[in-house]
Amino acid sequence: MKNIYSNIYSFNKKTLKKTVNSLNQGNIAGLPTETVYGLAGNAYSDRAVKKIFKLKKRPSKNPLIVHYDNYKRAGKDVLLNKNFFKLYKKFCPGPMTFILKKNKKTKISSLATAKLNTVAIRFPSHRVIKTMLKFLDYPLAMPSANLSSGLSPVNAFDVFDEFKKKLKIIINGGNSSVGLESTVIDLTGKPKILRPGVITSKDIKNFLKIDLSRKNFKIKSPGMMKRHYSPGIPVIIGKKPKSLSDAYIVFGKKFKNFENYFNLSKKGDLKEAAANLYKIMRKIKKKGYKKIFVSRIPKFGAGIAINDRLLRASR
Ligand code: TXA
Ligand code: MG
Repeated sequence: MKNIYSNIYSFNKKTLKKTVNSLNQGNIAGLPTETVYGLAGNAYSDRAVKKIFKLKKRPSKNPLIVHYDNYKRAGKDVLLNKNFFKLYKKFCPGPMTFILKKNKKTKISSLATAKLNTVAIRFPSHRVIKTMLKFLDYPLAMPSANLSSGLSPVNAFDVFDEFKKKLKIIINGGNSSVGLESTVIDLTGKPKILRPGVITSKDIKNFLKIDLSRKNFKIKSPGMMKRHYSPGIPVIIGKKPKSLSDAYIVFGKKFKNFENYFNLSKKGDLKEAAANLYKIMRKIKKKGYKKIFVSRIPKFGAGIAINDRLLRASR
Protein backbone atom coordinates (compact mmCIF):
# COMPACT_ATOMS: atom_id res chain seq x y z
CA MET A 1 0.00 0.00 0.00
CA LYS A 2 1.21 3.48 -0.78
CA ASN A 3 2.15 5.53 2.26
CA ILE A 4 -0.15 8.55 2.20
CA TYR A 5 2.08 10.27 4.74
CA SER A 6 5.14 10.10 2.48
CA ASN A 7 5.91 13.80 3.08
CA ILE A 8 6.20 13.28 6.86
CA TYR A 9 9.79 12.57 7.90
CA SER A 10 11.37 11.64 11.18
CA PHE A 11 14.26 13.85 12.24
CA ASN A 12 17.81 12.71 11.52
CA LYS A 13 20.97 13.94 9.80
CA LYS A 14 19.62 13.08 6.38
CA THR A 15 16.24 14.78 6.78
CA LEU A 16 17.89 17.78 8.47
CA LYS A 17 20.04 18.21 5.35
CA LYS A 18 17.09 17.67 3.04
CA THR A 19 15.03 20.31 4.88
CA VAL A 20 17.89 22.83 5.02
CA ASN A 21 18.42 22.42 1.24
CA SER A 22 14.74 22.86 0.57
CA LEU A 23 14.49 25.99 2.76
CA ASN A 24 17.62 27.38 1.06
CA GLN A 25 15.83 27.05 -2.26
CA GLY A 26 12.98 29.22 -0.97
CA ASN A 27 10.57 26.41 -0.18
CA ILE A 28 8.53 26.13 2.98
CA ALA A 29 8.29 23.22 5.41
CA GLY A 30 6.10 22.09 8.30
CA LEU A 31 8.25 22.05 11.44
CA PRO A 32 7.62 21.21 15.10
CA THR A 33 7.99 23.67 17.94
CA GLU A 34 7.18 23.23 21.63
CA THR A 35 4.04 25.42 21.29
CA VAL A 36 2.45 24.36 18.01
CA TYR A 37 3.74 23.26 14.59
CA GLY A 38 4.79 26.03 12.22
CA LEU A 39 4.93 26.72 8.50
CA ALA A 40 8.56 27.76 8.08
CA GLY A 41 10.34 29.75 5.38
CA ASN A 42 13.33 32.08 4.96
CA ALA A 43 12.30 35.32 6.70
CA TYR A 44 14.73 37.27 4.48
CA SER A 45 13.12 36.07 1.27
CA ASP A 46 10.02 37.75 -0.20
CA ARG A 47 9.43 34.67 -2.29
CA ALA A 48 9.40 32.26 0.66
CA VAL A 49 7.25 34.60 2.76
CA LYS A 50 4.76 35.00 -0.10
CA LYS A 51 4.44 31.23 -0.26
CA ILE A 52 3.59 31.07 3.44
CA PHE A 53 0.82 33.67 3.15
CA LYS A 54 -0.57 31.98 0.07
CA LEU A 55 -0.62 28.47 1.47
CA LYS A 56 -2.19 29.58 4.76
CA LYS A 57 -4.65 31.91 2.98
CA ARG A 58 -3.52 34.48 5.50
CA PRO A 59 -4.47 38.14 5.05
CA SER A 60 -1.35 40.07 4.03
CA LYS A 61 -1.80 42.55 6.87
CA ASN A 62 -1.36 39.90 9.56
CA PRO A 63 2.41 39.79 10.30
CA LEU A 64 4.47 36.65 10.98
CA ILE A 65 6.74 35.76 13.89
CA VAL A 66 10.44 35.51 13.01
CA HIS A 67 12.31 32.69 14.80
CA TYR A 68 15.98 32.72 15.86
CA ASP A 69 18.34 30.42 17.71
CA ASN A 70 19.87 33.21 19.79
CA TYR A 71 19.56 36.93 20.54
CA LYS A 72 22.80 37.86 18.81
CA ARG A 73 21.37 37.03 15.43
CA ALA A 74 18.09 38.75 16.30
CA GLY A 75 20.02 41.92 17.17
CA LYS A 76 20.75 42.41 13.46
CA ASP A 77 17.06 42.74 12.70
CA VAL A 78 15.47 44.39 15.76
CA LEU A 79 16.38 46.85 18.50
CA LEU A 80 16.84 44.78 21.64
CA ASN A 81 16.10 46.61 24.90
CA LYS A 82 16.46 46.14 28.67
CA ASN A 83 13.13 44.42 29.25
CA PHE A 84 13.90 42.10 26.37
CA PHE A 85 17.20 40.97 27.90
CA LYS A 86 15.60 40.36 31.29
CA LEU A 87 12.80 38.26 29.84
CA TYR A 88 15.11 36.49 27.42
CA LYS A 89 17.37 35.34 30.25
CA LYS A 90 14.46 34.02 32.25
CA PHE A 91 12.12 32.52 29.65
CA CYS A 92 14.11 31.73 26.49
CA PRO A 93 14.30 29.53 24.63
CA GLY A 94 10.61 28.96 25.18
CA PRO A 95 7.01 29.93 24.45
CA MET A 96 7.37 33.72 24.43
CA THR A 97 7.25 36.15 21.49
CA PHE A 98 8.57 39.71 21.72
CA ILE A 99 7.39 42.68 19.66
CA LEU A 100 10.33 45.01 19.12
CA LYS A 101 11.22 47.92 16.87
CA LYS A 102 12.71 47.03 13.54
CA ASN A 103 16.40 47.69 13.02
CA LYS A 104 16.71 49.92 9.95
CA LYS A 105 19.35 47.59 8.52
CA THR A 106 17.14 44.54 8.83
CA LYS A 107 17.06 41.99 6.04
CA ILE A 108 13.62 40.70 7.05
CA SER A 109 11.14 40.73 4.19
CA SER A 110 8.75 43.64 4.67
CA LEU A 111 5.94 41.26 3.68
CA ALA A 112 6.65 39.15 6.79
CA THR A 113 6.09 42.14 9.05
CA ALA A 114 3.11 43.41 7.04
CA LYS A 115 5.13 46.60 6.47
CA LEU A 116 4.99 47.52 10.17
CA ASN A 117 8.00 49.13 11.86
CA THR A 118 7.94 46.40 14.50
CA VAL A 119 8.89 42.72 14.37
CA ALA A 120 7.68 39.74 16.39
CA ILE A 121 10.61 37.50 17.35
CA ARG A 122 10.76 34.17 19.15
CA PHE A 123 13.38 31.64 20.30
CA PRO A 124 11.76 28.22 20.26
CA SER A 125 13.08 25.43 22.49
CA HIS A 126 12.05 22.33 20.54
CA ARG A 127 15.12 20.29 19.60
CA VAL A 128 14.23 20.03 15.90
CA ILE A 129 13.68 23.72 15.24
CA LYS A 130 16.64 24.74 17.40
CA THR A 131 18.94 22.44 15.46
CA MET A 132 17.48 23.54 12.13
CA LEU A 133 18.08 27.23 12.90
CA LYS A 134 21.77 26.56 13.63
CA PHE A 135 22.23 25.24 10.09
CA LEU A 136 20.59 28.23 8.38
CA ASP A 137 22.02 31.65 7.47
CA TYR A 138 18.67 33.32 8.09
CA PRO A 139 15.85 33.26 10.63
CA LEU A 140 12.58 31.47 9.92
CA ALA A 141 9.27 33.25 9.44
CA MET A 142 6.83 30.78 10.91
CA PRO A 143 3.13 31.13 11.60
CA SER A 144 1.18 28.20 13.00
CA ALA A 145 0.82 25.52 10.30
CA ASN A 146 -2.93 25.77 9.81
CA LEU A 147 -5.25 27.47 7.37
CA SER A 148 -5.96 31.02 8.52
CA SER A 149 -8.43 31.27 11.46
CA GLY A 150 -8.43 27.50 12.15
CA LEU A 151 -6.95 25.38 14.93
CA SER A 152 -3.18 25.24 15.28
CA PRO A 153 -1.61 21.80 14.68
CA VAL A 154 0.12 20.08 17.59
CA ASN A 155 1.64 17.12 15.72
CA ALA A 156 2.86 16.25 12.22
CA PHE A 157 -0.40 14.53 11.24
CA ASP A 158 -2.42 17.65 12.08
CA VAL A 159 -0.16 19.57 9.69
CA PHE A 160 -0.79 16.93 7.05
CA ASP A 161 -4.55 17.29 7.59
CA GLU A 162 -4.28 21.01 6.88
CA PHE A 163 -2.10 20.97 3.77
CA LYS A 164 -1.87 17.35 2.57
CA LYS A 165 0.79 17.07 -0.16
CA LYS A 166 1.03 20.83 -0.72
CA LEU A 167 4.01 20.66 1.63
CA LYS A 168 7.04 18.72 0.42
CA ILE A 169 8.40 18.25 3.92
CA ILE A 170 6.78 17.91 7.33
CA ILE A 171 9.16 16.93 10.12
CA ASN A 172 7.68 14.72 12.82
CA GLY A 173 8.87 16.00 16.19
CA GLY A 174 6.19 14.35 18.29
CA ASN A 175 3.42 16.17 20.13
CA SER A 176 4.04 19.83 20.94
CA SER A 177 4.52 19.82 24.70
CA VAL A 178 2.93 23.23 25.37
CA GLY A 179 0.07 22.86 22.87
CA LEU A 180 -0.95 26.55 22.72
CA GLU A 181 0.68 29.40 20.81
CA SER A 182 3.35 31.49 22.54
CA THR A 183 2.63 34.46 24.80
CA VAL A 184 3.03 37.62 22.68
CA ILE A 185 4.38 40.63 24.58
CA ASP A 186 4.87 44.08 23.11
CA LEU A 187 8.10 45.62 24.41
CA THR A 188 8.16 48.73 22.23
CA GLY A 189 6.83 50.78 25.16
CA LYS A 190 5.50 49.80 28.56
CA PRO A 191 5.27 45.99 28.29
CA LYS A 192 1.87 44.74 27.23
CA ILE A 193 0.53 41.25 26.58
CA LEU A 194 -1.05 41.00 23.13
CA ARG A 195 -1.77 37.26 23.24
CA PRO A 196 -1.92 35.23 26.46
CA GLY A 197 0.00 31.96 26.65
CA VAL A 198 1.25 29.50 29.26
CA ILE A 199 3.74 32.11 30.47
CA THR A 200 1.21 34.42 32.12
CA SER A 201 1.10 38.17 32.67
CA LYS A 202 1.44 37.39 36.39
CA ASP A 203 4.68 35.45 35.76
CA ILE A 204 6.01 38.41 33.79
CA LYS A 205 4.79 41.06 36.23
CA ASN A 206 6.33 39.26 39.21
CA PHE A 207 9.57 38.87 37.38
CA LEU A 208 9.93 42.37 35.89
CA LYS A 209 8.48 43.93 39.04
CA ILE A 210 6.43 46.38 37.01
CA ASP A 211 2.76 46.57 36.08
CA LEU A 212 1.97 45.66 32.51
CA SER A 213 0.22 48.20 30.30
CA ARG A 214 -3.52 47.78 29.82
CA LYS A 215 -3.71 50.44 27.13
CA ASN A 216 -5.36 49.36 23.93
CA PHE A 217 -2.97 49.50 21.04
CA LYS A 218 -4.04 50.58 17.60
CA ILE A 219 -2.25 47.70 15.95
CA LYS A 220 -3.30 44.64 17.84
CA SER A 221 -2.10 41.17 17.11
CA PRO A 222 -4.51 40.24 14.35
CA GLY A 223 -4.78 36.91 16.17
CA MET A 224 -6.56 39.00 18.79
CA MET A 225 -9.26 40.29 16.51
CA LYS A 226 -12.29 38.52 15.11
CA ARG A 227 -12.92 34.81 15.05
CA HIS A 228 -9.88 32.60 15.38
CA TYR A 229 -8.77 29.20 16.61
CA SER A 230 -11.97 27.74 15.20
CA PRO A 231 -12.49 23.97 14.98
CA GLY A 232 -15.02 24.49 12.15
CA ILE A 233 -18.10 23.66 14.29
CA PRO A 234 -19.90 25.87 16.84
CA VAL A 235 -18.31 26.20 20.28
CA ILE A 236 -20.60 27.05 23.21
CA ILE A 237 -19.06 27.98 26.54
CA GLY A 238 -20.49 27.36 30.01
CA LYS A 239 -23.35 25.06 28.97
CA LYS A 240 -23.92 21.31 28.90
CA PRO A 241 -24.86 19.47 25.71
CA LYS A 242 -28.40 18.11 25.53
CA SER A 243 -27.78 15.70 22.69
CA LEU A 244 -25.32 12.84 22.21
CA SER A 245 -24.39 14.28 18.82
CA ASP A 246 -22.74 17.17 20.66
CA ALA A 247 -19.40 16.91 22.47
CA TYR A 248 -18.64 18.22 25.95
CA ILE A 249 -15.16 19.46 26.85
CA VAL A 250 -14.64 19.21 30.60
CA PHE A 251 -11.86 19.74 33.12
CA GLY A 252 -11.19 17.97 36.43
CA LYS A 253 -12.07 14.75 38.18
CA LYS A 254 -15.74 15.37 38.95
CA PHE A 255 -16.83 14.50 35.39
CA LYS A 256 -17.89 11.01 34.33
CA ASN A 257 -16.46 9.13 31.34
CA PHE A 258 -19.43 9.46 28.97
CA GLU A 259 -18.65 8.82 25.33
CA ASN A 260 -19.24 12.43 24.27
CA TYR A 261 -17.27 13.85 27.24
CA PHE A 262 -13.66 14.86 26.59
CA ASN A 263 -11.58 15.68 29.64
CA LEU A 264 -8.75 18.19 29.16
CA SER A 265 -7.15 17.02 32.40
CA LYS A 266 -8.69 14.57 34.83
CA LYS A 267 -6.25 15.58 37.52
CA GLY A 268 -7.10 19.25 37.06
CA ASP A 269 -3.72 20.35 35.73
CA LEU A 270 -4.06 23.48 33.57
CA LYS A 271 -0.79 22.93 31.69
CA GLU A 272 -1.90 19.43 30.76
CA ALA A 273 -5.24 20.91 29.69
CA ALA A 274 -3.47 23.43 27.45
CA ALA A 275 -1.46 20.66 25.81
CA ASN A 276 -4.67 18.69 25.16
CA LEU A 277 -7.01 21.46 23.98
CA TYR A 278 -6.35 21.54 20.22
CA LYS A 279 -5.74 17.80 20.05
CA ILE A 280 -9.14 17.15 21.62
CA MET A 281 -10.95 19.74 19.49
CA ARG A 282 -9.57 18.16 16.32
CA LYS A 283 -10.57 14.70 17.54
CA ILE A 284 -14.12 15.89 18.27
CA LYS A 285 -14.44 17.41 14.80
CA LYS A 286 -13.12 14.22 13.16
CA LYS A 287 -15.58 12.06 15.06
CA GLY A 288 -18.39 14.04 13.44
CA TYR A 289 -19.88 15.83 16.45
CA LYS A 290 -22.06 18.78 15.48
CA LYS A 291 -21.21 21.20 18.28
CA ILE A 292 -18.75 21.57 21.13
CA PHE A 293 -19.95 22.59 24.57
CA VAL A 294 -17.35 23.55 27.16
CA SER A 295 -17.60 23.46 30.95
CA ARG A 296 -16.00 26.13 33.11
CA ILE A 297 -12.20 26.20 32.98
CA PRO A 298 -10.40 28.04 35.83
CA LYS A 299 -9.25 31.52 34.85
CA PHE A 300 -5.73 31.52 36.22
CA GLY A 301 -2.33 30.25 35.05
CA ALA A 302 -2.55 28.48 31.69
CA GLY A 303 -6.34 28.67 32.14
CA ILE A 304 -6.24 32.31 30.99
CA ALA A 305 -4.84 31.33 27.58
CA ILE A 306 -7.23 28.36 27.32
CA ASN A 307 -10.22 30.62 28.01
CA ASP A 308 -8.91 33.17 25.52
CA ARG A 309 -8.71 30.60 22.70
CA LEU A 310 -12.10 29.09 23.55
CA LEU A 311 -13.73 32.50 23.58
CA ARG A 312 -12.34 33.35 20.14
CA ALA A 313 -13.34 29.94 18.83
CA SER A 314 -16.89 30.54 20.08
CA ARG A 315 -17.42 33.77 18.11
O1 TXA B 1 3.82 29.68 19.32
C1 TXA B 1 3.84 30.42 18.33
O2 TXA B 1 3.96 31.65 18.44
C2 TXA B 1 3.69 29.77 16.96
C3 TXA B 1 4.92 28.92 16.68
C4 TXA B 1 4.90 28.28 15.31
O3 TXA B 1 6.08 29.67 16.85
N1 TXA B 1 3.49 30.74 15.94
C5 TXA B 1 2.34 31.46 15.84
O4 TXA B 1 2.31 32.31 14.76
O5 TXA B 1 1.41 31.34 16.61
P1 TXA B 1 0.98 32.98 14.20
O6 TXA B 1 1.38 33.65 12.95
O7 TXA B 1 -0.06 31.96 14.11
O8 TXA B 1 0.64 34.06 15.27
C6 TXA B 1 1.46 35.22 15.39
C7 TXA B 1 0.74 36.32 16.13
C8 TXA B 1 -0.40 36.86 15.31
O9 TXA B 1 -1.49 37.11 16.18
C9 TXA B 1 0.19 38.15 14.75
O10 TXA B 1 -0.78 39.10 14.49
C10 TXA B 1 1.11 38.59 15.88
O11 TXA B 1 1.67 37.39 16.35
N2 TXA B 1 2.16 39.49 15.40
C11 TXA B 1 3.17 39.22 14.53
N3 TXA B 1 3.93 40.31 14.31
C12 TXA B 1 3.39 41.31 15.04
C13 TXA B 1 3.71 42.69 15.25
N4 TXA B 1 4.75 43.26 14.64
N5 TXA B 1 2.93 43.40 16.08
C14 TXA B 1 1.88 42.83 16.72
N6 TXA B 1 1.53 41.54 16.57
C15 TXA B 1 2.26 40.79 15.75
MG1 MG C 1 -1.91 31.09 14.09
